[in-house]
Amino acid sequence: MKVGIIGSGAMGSGIAQVAAQHGCQVKVFDNNSEALKKADAKLRKTLEKLEAKGKFSSEQCESILSNIQYVGSMVDMADRELIIEAIIENLSIKKAVFKQLEDMVSDDCILATNTSSLSVTSIAAACEIPGRVIGIHFFNPAPIMKLVEIIPAVQTDEAITQQAKQIIDDWSKVTVLAKDTPAFIVNRVARPFYGEAIRILEEGIADMATIDWAMTEIGGFRMGPFTLMDFIGHDVNYPVTETVFKAFYYDERYKPSFTQKRLVEAGFLGRKSGRGFYQYGEGIQHPEPDTDKALGKKIVERIVSMLINEAADALYLNVATREDIDLAMTKGVNYPKGLLKWADELGIDNCVHILDELFDEYHEPRYRCSPMLRKLSKKGKTFY
Ligand SMILES: NC(=O)c1ccc[n+]([C@@H]2O[C@H](COP(=O)([O-])OP(=O)(O)OC[C@H]3O[C@@H](n4cnc5c(N)ncnc54)[C@H](O)[C@@H]3O)[C@@H](O)[C@H]2O)c1
Repeated sequence: MKVGIIGSGAMGSGIAQVAAQHGCQVKVFDNNSEALKKADAKLRKTLEKLEAKGKFSSEQCESILSNIQYVGSMVDMADRELIIEAIIENLSIKKAVFKQLEDMVSDDCILATNTSSLSVTSIAAACEIPGRVIGIHFFNPAPIMKLVEIIPAVQTDEAITQQAKQIIDDWSKVTVLAKDTPAFIVNRVARPFYGEAIRILEEGIADMATIDWAMTEIGGFRMGPFTLMDFIGHDVNYPVTETVFKAFYYDERYKPSFTQKRLVEAGFLGRKSGRGFYQYGEGIQHPEPDTDKALGKKIVERIVSMLINEAADALYLNVATREDIDLAMTKGVNYPKGLLKWADELGIDNCVHILDELFDEYHEPRYRCSPMLRKLSKKGKTFY
């Protein structure tokens, strides 16, 4: 297949690698020639490492490299069958690029965006044939993360959705279908993992080491929320929270925290700057957690119930199917279990009780229980 990638940054270069590994002829364009050179050098280094580890033979590496062509003009995209745009997250710039692309390509070329937070529908509206525009949302790093969210715009033809899904399945990814709503599935449902953890810290219920300990040792998550936020970088994680908050018309459930905002303002961006919630560097010890099991269980129950509430709401509002919501969180952010399955295990009544207790204590809309959970609880039903 002839694939075009627009933007050769972190995501574009990764997506190009995935397509090339699956035998596609890939052309990559970036309006910054330095970014193209960087992408080429990065891929060569990555392949060298993979070859050294025995994951690819030298012939395979050669073939992957020969499948990718870095081009200096968008006109070179004229013969493509699928184009995935992965440029800066800016709606008017993306719309302009889609308009330009449409003037060059044939009518049956699929035009996809890798946007994390913008409306795919709005991007499609910039095109003459909006039915061929779709969201194909990879996770970072694209060659490693299994999950890809497929997001048809309101205007997308059903056949294009099926075709896009099939192509990405053929690239050995796990695809889930998401409605074009802010932050799609993963970035929406995961908000309380960060937000509720910070809230518990701000209230002084536990310190960050204890919350991280509870979520990993008792909750079974791979990384605690504070370690993960430091790893992602607060300059990345905070703006996502802010964007989601605005996109949901300032729904209090997604309210960002001053604690994280101040970290960004201070330049304490996490691991990459040597300091975030924790300090990093040789010989620096992280604080010891309080390993009180009862406290740990309370922390996990509170954060997991808030996550379950989001997952239930996403299902309630038909953002995705039950199976896709659970798949998205296990494959997209490595959660130990699908949240809806987890809700069944914890007990729906129990989840409703935890959320209602929080609501009674705080009287904040943030803790309102999803109508879906309440309905299941009333009927004595489960998600599965
Ligand atoms: N980084 C992530 O974790 C992540 C994950 C999923 C989706 N995304 C989305 O993917 C897209 C790209 O993100 P990224 O992290 O790769 O960004 P990046 O900054 O690493 O790369 C963007 C690239 O696009 C190029 N570019 C900007 N405007 C352009 C234009 N008009 N024409 C051609 N090239 C242009 C830039 O030169 C740059 O090389 C964004 O929409 C982002 O929301 C990012």
